Amino acid sequence: MKKLLSLLIGAGLVLGAVGAKAGPEQDREALVKYFTTKYPSIKLDNYVYGALAFDPDGLEQYKEIMSFPPFVGVIDAGKKMWDKPFANGKTYASCFPNGGKNIAGNYPYFDNKAGKVVTLNDAIDACRVANGEKPYGLASKEIGVLDSYMRTLSDGMKMNIKVEGPGALAAYEEGKKIFYSRKGQLNFACATCHIQEAGGPHLRSELLSPIIGQATHWPVFRGGEKLVTLQERYAGCFKMIRAVPAKIGSTEMNDLEYFHSYVSNGLPMQASVFRK
Ligand code: HEC
Repeated sequence: MKKLLSLLIGAGLVLGAVGAKAGPEQDREALVKYFTTKYPSIKLDNYVYGALAFDPDGLEQYKEIMSFPPFVGVIDAGKKMWDKPFANGKTYASCFPNGGKNIAGNYPYFDNKAGKVVTLNDAIDACRVANGEKPYGLASKEIGVLDSYMRTLSDGMKMNIKVEGPGALAAYEEGKKIFYSRKGQLNFACATCHIQEAGGPHLRSELLSPIIGQATHWPVFRGGEKLVTLQERYAGCFKMIRAVPAKIGSTEMNDLEYFHSYVSNGLPMQASVFRK
C-alpha cells in the first residue's frame, strides 16, 4: 500500500468523470460509460467482483473459496438470530416488506418524514426498538452477523436505490461530495483510488476496485474470517488516507452509502463474500 500511496501522491489527478450539475442517473451513466469505455473487455455485471474483475487468477481462487466459504458458521449464527422471536413473540421478518426477502437492494432509502437516509442496518436496529428490544448499535458485532444472513435473502436482486424529492437529492449530493472531496493528511479523495486509478495498471499487486459494483456484496469476510460491514470498510479507507472517519451510522456515513449504493443500481447483489 505504501508504494501505491507514493505513486498516487502528486499525480495531480483531475476528478472529472461526474459533472457538477448532473442528476443521479446521469452520474451513474457517466460512471458506467467511463469504465466500460476504459475497459471494454470487462462485463458490467462483473464489477460486483471489485478488483477481482481485473484479475482472472484471483477471480478463479475467489470462486473456489466461495464454493465452500469458511464463514458459513457466522451466516448460520445470523440465521438463528433472524429466526429467534423477540420477547413479544414477533420476529425481524415482521418489520420488513416481503418478510425481508429481496429488499436489500432498496436500501439505503431516504425517509421523507424523518428527513434522513435509512440504511438496512438502521432498519434492523429500528425493528428491535419497535419490538421493545435494545438496539444493538450500528458498529456492533451482532448487527454485522445478523446483516450477513439477512442480506443473503436478497441474493440476485438488482440494486435499486431511489432518489426522489429535494431531501433525498440533497442527501445524495452530500454523499457524492464526500466521495469526491480530498481529505486526510495524504489529500486523497475516494474517487482518486476508486475512479481514476481503479482497475488501472499502476500496481498489479494492489488493484483498486471501481466504484460501480462496490456496494453490492456486503458484509465481506476479509481473509475468510473477519466480518467487515460496508461502513466499516469506508472507515478503513478513511484511515488509510489518514483522515478521521465519521462514526458508523452517522449522517455523513449514511449519505455516503446512499450515493455509493445508487451508482451500483442495476447490478446483482450477493451476500456475504470473501475478500483478501
Ligand atoms: C489510497 C487509495 C484509496 C482511497 C483514497 C480509498 N480507498 Fe477504498 N480501497 C482501497 C484499497 C487498496 C482497497 C482494497 C482493494 C479494493 O477492493 O479496491 C479498497 C477497498 C474499498 C472497498 C471495498 C471493495 C470490495 O469490493 O471489497 C470500498 C467499498 C471502498 N474501498 C470505499 C472507499 C471509500 C468510500 C473511500 C473514501 C472514503 C475510499 N475507499 C478511499 C484504497 C483506497
